[in-house]
Amino acid sequence: MKPSTINLVYFSATYTTKKVVKLIAEQSNSPITEYDITQQSPESNISFNPNDLLIVGMPVYAGRIPVEAAKALQKFKGNHTPAIIVCVYGNRDYDDALLELKDIVTNNGFKTISAGAFIAQHSIFPEVGCNRPDEKDNTFIKHFADQSFELLDSIIDISILSDIKVKGNIPYKQPGSIPLKPKGNSKCNQCGSCVKLCPTQAIPKENPRKTNKDLCISCGRCIVVCPQNARRFGGLLYKVAGKKFVSANSARKEPEVTFSLPPTSINE
Ligand SMILES: Cc1cc2nc3c(=O)[nH]c(=O)nc-3n(C[C@H](O)[C@H](O)[C@H](O)COP(=O)(O)O)c2cc1C
Ligand code: SF4
Ligand code: SF4
Repeated sequence: MKPSTINLVYFSATYTTKKVVKLIAEQSNSPITEYDITQQSPESNISFNPNDLLIVGMPVYAGRIPVEAAKALQKFKGNHTPAIIVCVYGNRDYDDALLELKDIVTNNGFKTISAGAFIAQHSIFPEVGCNRPDEKDNTFIKHFADQSFELLDSIIDISILSDIKVKGNIPYKQPGSIPLKPKGNSKCNQCGSCVKLCPTQAIPKENPRKTNKDLCISCGRCIVVCPQNARRFGGLLYKVAGKKFVSANSARKEPEVTFSLPPTSINE
């Protein structure tokens, strides 16, 4: 089947997850509807049909998908709707994130036809996975998309496909909060971009150099959107943790993908 609409759902604070899922969707010529859930969850449920396709992308936060993103994703309901699921991680590990993502979409009426774990620059420690996804990644991502669309094209009824297996354990890892929170410096000219774009309203309008540590999820968006380069992670803990993290996680990881299988023929 060729999807009538591709519904692209993603949470992407520093925009790498968005890049990856858009690249996948663009390999098809079906029309695309985008749902960016980074800053807002839909007010009511959004339902899809069997001839739609869901492509969903989530970053990995402490081996899971972000808590806010998991909540927002519950609003998307399938009706035997095929899904391509993607997690994007910063070259450490994706642990239970892809399994968690698969479980959420399955419980909401979708059937996962393919799954991918791709690598991007780490949004807290950018020396790790620096400048990824790169050309080699993009070629791999496009090939994954082509294979996924070919699989979908080759079948009429997705219920014949096997249940896809992805890496991960149950119970999932406990969601961890990261003790590192960015703040602004004297270069800030109060333009307000970070205030407007912070997913959790953790930056006070009256003083954007500050951060409400209870609200901040350490996503790194305020750093990448600041035109003055005025916000950053810092402090002794960041320096010490960063050194250790970079030396433990710098070896290049490669993407992993998996596909749901059509039933084998009786003659085989
Ligand atoms: C709070 C937080 C936790 C993270 N935890 C992990 C992790 O467990 N494993 C990993 O490899 N990368 C981890 N990362 C890196 C992100 O998964 C990676 O940078 C991802 O590309 C961010 O996606 P985005 O650009 O769409 O925001 C973490 C990043 C943040 C902000
Ligand atoms: S203040 Fe925290 S939650 Fe807000 S954009 Fe910056 S890192 Fe993300
Ligand atoms: S985006 Fe940068 S310059 Fe603008 S208010 Fe935030 S910290 Fe200040």
